[in-house]
Amino acid sequence: MIQLDPQKLPVHLAVIMDGNGRWAQQRMLKRIVGHQRGAETVKMVVEQSSLLGIRYLTLFAFSSENWSRPAMEVRALMTLLKKYIRQETARMMRKNIRYNVIGNRSDLPDDVNETLDEAILKTAGNTGMVLTLALSYGGRQELCRAAARLAQEAIDGRLSPGDITTELFDSYLDTGGLPDPDFLIRTSGEMRISNFLLWQLAYTELYFTETNWPDFTINELHKALADFQSRERRFGMTSDQLTQRGDLSNA
Ligand code: FPP
Repeated sequence: MIQLDPQKLPVHLAVIMDGNGRWAQQRMLKRIVGHQRGAETVKMVVEQSSLLGIRYLTLFAFSSENWSRPAMEVRALMTLLKKYIRQETARMMRKNIRYNVIGNRSDLPDDVNETLDEAILKTAGNTGMVLTLALSYGGRQELCRAAARLAQEAIDGRLSPGDITTELFDSYLDTGGLPDPDFLIRTSGEMRISNFLLWQLAYTELYFTETNWPDFTINELHKALADFQSRERRFGMTSDQLTQRGDLSNA
């Protein structure tokens, strides 16, 4: 059993859930079966994260680039998503979890948006973990949307370019109001960010595992979190400065 320090968990955990297709292909199954099994892993990670006391969990469920997949796979993924949200909302209520969505929602089919709106509204008063689903999400697209909104504010005379600070820019992103992720897990052995949370990951600790998403277990999650707890996060400072800061804050 892996021991975790409850005081040193990430406040915000982000996950790139990769390898569903390969998991299925290795078993001569259709890719969608990999996604269905992946949805079971989602349930486990949501439940565990909430149990452990993680405040924010953000899952990369569908990228802006995923629209170029075969139409049948896109349709199946949208159906799976809708089914998952409908089935899980009651559990989210029991566990006090609040749904949130980032990404370009105008690209999503109307029925998916309706299901999302219902779930967001129903769970809006929940005060536990915030579960953010990144859907039709791309980091570059999100940055462009934020820049366009800021430009419009400047044209309308509500803002001058000199007012744009990192804090202000941050508040114009889809993730405005969420803290940056402390820890990012990516499954399936690929070591890249793939247009996920490009701005927000500036100081995030990264963790890569060879395991495909459907095979990712509670034990692997705990192993990843234990790895996070062993890291020294310096945010551009020196190790000595951090120690001094720690001494002062403990004084
Ligand atoms: C990446 O695997 C995964 C996706 C594009 C979709 C993720 C979806 C789920 C985990 C299931 C539904 C989600 C929720 C929130 C219920 P891939 O298909 O790119 O795998 P590959 O790289 O092996 O082909």
